[in-house]
Parts: sequence; C-alpha cells; structure tokens
Amino acid sequence: MALCLHTVTVCGGGNAAHVIIPLLVKNGCRVILYTPFADEAARFREGGRRGKLQACFQDGVTLTGSPCLVTTDAAEAAQSEMILLAVPAFAHGPLLAQLSPFMRPGIVIGALPARGGFDLQALYYLHHHGLDGTVFCGHTLPWACRIEEYGRQVKVLGVKETVGLATAPADQATAIAAFLSRTLEVPFHPMANTLAVSLGNIGQVVHPGIMYGLLKNYDGHIWQKEEIPLFYQGVNAETARLLEDLSGEITATAARLQHEYGVNLGKVPAVGQWLLYTYARYIADDTSLERAFRTNRAYCGLKVPVVRAAEGEGYRPDFNCRYLTEDVPFGLLFSRAVALMVGCPTPRVDEVIRATGEWMGKRYFDANGAFAGPDLAEARLPAHYGIYDAAHLVSVTMRGLLEAMKKPTFN
Ligand code: NAI
Repeated sequence: MALCLHTVTVCGGGNAAHVIIPLLVKNGCRVILYTPFADEAARFREGGRRGKLQACFQDGVTLTGSPCLVTTDAAEAAQSEMILLAVPAFAHGPLLAQLSPFMRPGIVIGALPARGGFDLQALYYLHHHGLDGTVFCGHTLPWACRIEEYGRQVKVLGVKETVGLATAPADQATAIAAFLSRTLEVPFHPMANTLAVSLGNIGQVVHPGIMYGLLKNYDGHIWQKEEIPLFYQGVNAETARLLEDLSGEITATAARLQHEYGVNLGKVPAVGQWLLYTYARYIADDTSLERAFRTNRAYCGLKVPVVRAAEGEGYRPDFNCRYLTEDVPFGLLFSRAVALMVGCPTPRVDEVIRATGEWMGKRYFDANGAFAGPDLAEARLPAHYGIYDAAHLVSVTMRGLLEAMKKPTFN
C-alpha cells in the first residue's frame, strides 16, 4: 500500500534542507522546518520574507515552496508523521535527544544521508521512550547543492541517478523508498538492510580519503584564494588507488559478514561502481577512477575546505571540516569496528584514521596501537549500544530492534 504522509518535519537549515523543502511542498506535503538554533530560524524566516524558497536545478528548472512553520520548539516539531534529518551525522544525536520525548507512536524517522550506525542511534531513542516506529537510512544525499541566498535560494549542482534506502524494520523499505521517490523526485531503491547502508556509506571513503590524499604532505603553506586545490578534481592516480584500497577493506568486511553470518547485505558497492552508477550522466571520461572523479561535472570547481589563516593572510586547510568531523567518527570508525568484529584487516583504513585523527586532535588508537583510543567515545560505534559482536549486530539489524540493549554508554 502506498505510504501517504501529510506533514513532514525537516531538521536542519543547511544546503540539503533548502532543496528538500521546495520538493516536498511541490509534491503535496505540509513541511515544518526545525532547527534548535534561534539565529538560524530567524535567518530562515528573514529569507522567507523576501520571497518563497527556490531550488534552482542545472537544467533551468526552478522549484518554489516554503515551510508552513519554522520552529525551534521540539515539541511542536515532533508532532508530524515523518521526521527527516538533513544534517551532518554529528547533529543526529542532539536532534534525536531533543525530538524523541515528543514523538508519536508509529513515527517514521530517518536521515539523508544516514552514514554509519544511524539506525542503532535512532532505535535507541525510540526504545528509550517506549515508542514503536520506523527508522529509515538514506545511503547518500540525492543532490550536490549549495545555498546561494540563505532561506531564499539554493543551487543544485548535480542530481544522483538513484539513492539506496534501508529501514528498521527492513520490510518498510519499499514503501518509504516509493514515498521519497515521489516527493523528492529522485529514484530511491530499497536496500537489503541498514547495515548495508552503514557499510556502503561512500562518504566515509571519499571524504577522508581525498583529504588524506591531497593533504598528507601539507607543509603549512598559506594558500592565496586562487591556490586552494580542487577537491574531487584534485584526485590523482595515487589518491584513486587509496580510495580503492579503503573501499576494498570495507567491501571485504561486508563479504565476510554475509558469508559467515548469513546476513544479506545485497551488494555493498566499491567506490568506482558507486561513482559510475550515481553520476553516470555527469562523467565525461570513465576510463579510470581518477578520470571519473576529475571529469564529473557535478563536482566541478569544489575546493578543499579552508579556514582563514589570519586576517588578510590567506587560507589553510580546515582540518575541522565535516569531511573529517562527520565522515571519520560516524563513518570510517563504524566500519573499522565492524571489521574488527569479523577479523578483517584494515591497514589502509587505519592509516587514514590515524592521520586524520591527528589533524583533528583525536586519539582513536591507544598507546599500544589498539583500536581503543579515548576519543572513540565520541564516535557512533555498535559497542555504544551494547553490541560487541557480529552475531548480535546482525541480529539487531535483521529484526530492527534494540531490545537486547541494557545500559547504553552513549546517546
Ligand atoms: P550544511 O552544513 O549546509 O547544514 C548543516 C545543518 O546542520 C545546519 O542547519 C546546522 O545548523 C545543522 N547542525 C549542525 N550541528 C548541529 C547540531 N549539533 N544540532 C542540530 N543541528 C545542527 O550541511 P548540508 O550541506 O545541508 O549537508 C547535510 C548532510 O548532507 C551532511 O551529512 C553532508 O555531508 C551531506 N551531503 C551534502 C552534500 C551537499 O552538496 N551539500 C552532498 C553530499 C552529502
């Protein structure tokens, strides 16, 4: 039966929310925008006073549609039938903590993109408040997009061909994928289960991998604006090989889980496969991974994230950007923890975790080199939800229930 939801709460007032809102409104939803930040809500309302929110697509189509309510009140925001988190993964925990006390039974809650372990975190909050509900996990964000004018206009640089989606419980994936395909106008395809989304999270490979590839020899040089390196188009043969290695260690982990624990993970894609089927119509030259990144129109002109070095002096790489603060603790570390559970070696993943962790001032390995550093506490790992072995992880994933959890060590 087709899922028919009337009111959707979109959480987050960033690039993604600016695209999602006009699409949902166009396709018949009443949209509430929730952000816990009063200044962000005020800026969004201010943009709305200048005119309706517009999403401008590359093919010249402009969609227009504004939320019916912009609120910082979690109780008001949680009354809808679906809650869609369109924020970096480090914001999932705070948003779930704010909204879950007010959610209604049967709530549908999900994240685009989910990154690693979102289902465990959301199930924990549902469980904690005695709620039933459905958790959905989007494999990626369907668009590459950047706000042009806050609360008023966003530019859509590229649209993905298709986006995978899994749910807990797993049997809701078809209905929710159909609903999102219709309202967001991008084909969502059901994936086998949420673990396939977590391990198949491509941001964990591409973002820290390219940062490491581009910056591992960074010597502290201050860049002038025109010197800031291109990000995706800066992928060279060596970085492409690193991305393949990272992706290979994660797909090997998925294969072992599938083989030894019987969980159907469908096909966790390798980075090259993902890039080609996601951006087929944007890539001019697909003869190698390096060329596919460099000739992908949707990535055109995107640069390494930077911060100002000092007033007037130029720019340095931003080692606290979301490519690291989101994709390492809520991506690579999750996959690393699962690899450890099934005994898969991860030398290249470890190399990237060590280096990027150091850049962020984090210790994910202890003094003996074990994956037990103090800053793992901030990451989203199965162990934080009482899951210490692969059999338990697979059982939670298959049933979409966290009932075995006794005392969570993390929210
Ligand atoms: P953004 O940086 O434009 O917006 C982030 C939003 O999260 C802001 O509204 C901010 O207020 C909110 N936020 C941050 N910390 C928070 C917290 N502690 N509590 C509550 N809210 C908090 O991000 P954008 O571009 O919208 O990205 C959203 C997600 O989509 C991220 O996971 C990103 O990696 C992913 N993504 C974005 C793409 C893009 O082209 N914009 C492309 C592919 C993925």
